[in-house]
Amino acid sequence: MEKVTSGFVFLTVKCKTQNLKYGYSIPPQNSHWEMISMGVLKEEGPIPYSKGLEGIIAALSAISAIDGMKGKLVYRGIPIEMLAKYSTYEETAYLLLYGELPTKNDLDDFSAQMRELRYLPPKVEECLKELPPNPHPMDVLKVAVAHAALYDPDRLRCCREGVMRKVLRIIAQIPTMIAYYHRTRIGEDVVPPDPDLNHAANFLYMLHGKKPDEEEARIFDVALILHAEHGLNASTFAAMVTASTLSDINSAIVSAIGALKGPLHGGANERVLKMLDEIGSPDKAEEYVLNALKEKRRVMGFGHRVYKTYDPRARILKQYAEYLSDKYNDRRYIEIGKKIEEVMIRELGKKGIFPNVDFYSGIVYHFLGIPRDLFTPVFAMARSVGWAAHVCEYTANNRIFRPRAYYIGPEYVEYVPIEKRR
Ligand code: ACO
Repeated sequence: MEKVTSGFVFLTVKCKTQNLKYGYSIPPQNSHWEMISMGVLKEEGPIPYSKGLEGIIAALSAISAIDGMKGKLVYRGIPIEMLAKYSTYEETAYLLLYGELPTKNDLDDFSAQMRELRYLPPKVEECLKELPPNPHPMDVLKVAVAHAALYDPDRLRCCREGVMRKVLRIIAQIPTMIAYYHRTRIGEDVVPPDPDLNHAANFLYMLHGKKPDEEEARIFDVALILHAEHGLNASTFAAMVTASTLSDINSAIVSAIGALKGPLHGGANERVLKMLDEIGSPDKAEEYVLNALKEKRRVMGFGHRVYKTYDPRARILKQYAEYLSDKYNDRRYIEIGKKIEEVMIRELGKKGIFPNVDFYSGIVYHFLGIPRDLFTPVFAMARSVGWAAHVCEYTANNRIFRPRAYYIGPEYVEYVPIEKRR
């Protein structure tokens, strides 16, 4: 392996038939990346340990690559900026799942299939109407995906074709689940999918009950592209671990939704807007950030395990947040956000803390009329394709995930009968 201290490195893997080259990024030297060699059991010899698996390569993948030092992200080799400019969510989904850009015919077939699969089984619709009051929408999504598995016509099919249809069905149905849940909780009739609209526009339509303006539908389409895939993040890894046991795809997606819900991962976007409201005006942002840092609180939407510079997705989303703030003549959130960014980079930029994808996405979603507690479900809706792509890629050459824990407990403790315990 080529010796470098940070950035992109190339690992040459010897396979039986060929040498393959894979790009991946490693964290900078001053990060928490410490490979400690220790014997788990004396006779096993040294086994590497890295807290939070930082810097550990857990799989080979040709789906996406991140250069955390240069702030670059490619899907199947194509820079994210080009996809944001020229692609659509459907085309990007095809690229991620099948490995290459579709021809016009392939894309037409794929889009038509996705549009046909948007409808929910009636029992899932019913289930969305019979939920306890005020559940977290991510919990609703977990329930709906698990429930849909029971009615999936391909549930017993394990062939590639059947699995692929299950994958497309989940990706196509998640937006309907979110929109139907939202319409029901606000006491409105659900709005059935419109086959004339693409993935992004159809979601906004089902959510709001009116066709979205073309420009805003396109901005949402780009936001979905930017969230579609990001290597072995916590939720994707959770999906892969579940799938590596040869469990079904819906179970893998449910695991991923559970992992994405947390505030250190996908749940940060919702908390960013809460923070902007709490701060109230740009002149209070500096004091807020400095206090948070003094009290060792995390500022949501900043920092990333892999990026030690500006997240390229945040750069694009910031432009849209600016644009929509001007369009709606409401610059309060963006001005507070920019001030937080300035102070955070001044204080923590040298440590590699910069805005991540969650920082500006909330402002964009706010102007698109998406309720705040749906920001993370919308992230799940976009990322479902990345989860599925990794599950398909990994299980095609599967090995069950089974890491070890280094035992730090006592070597021997006598069993004390309950009546003698104090
Ligand atoms: N605010 C303040 N300080 C931070 C932040 C932050 N948002 N993020 C990291 N730091 C500091 C830590 O305090 C730590 O400082 P120390 O070395 O003095 O102890 C250092 O930077 C490294 O932080 P770690 O937690 O070790 O970094 P890790 O790679 O484990 O965590 C994470 C990455 C979870 C994203 C972290 O940056 C964080 O909590 N961010 C806020 C939540 C957030 O925005 N999550 C969304 C991430 S993007 C996504 O998942 C889609």
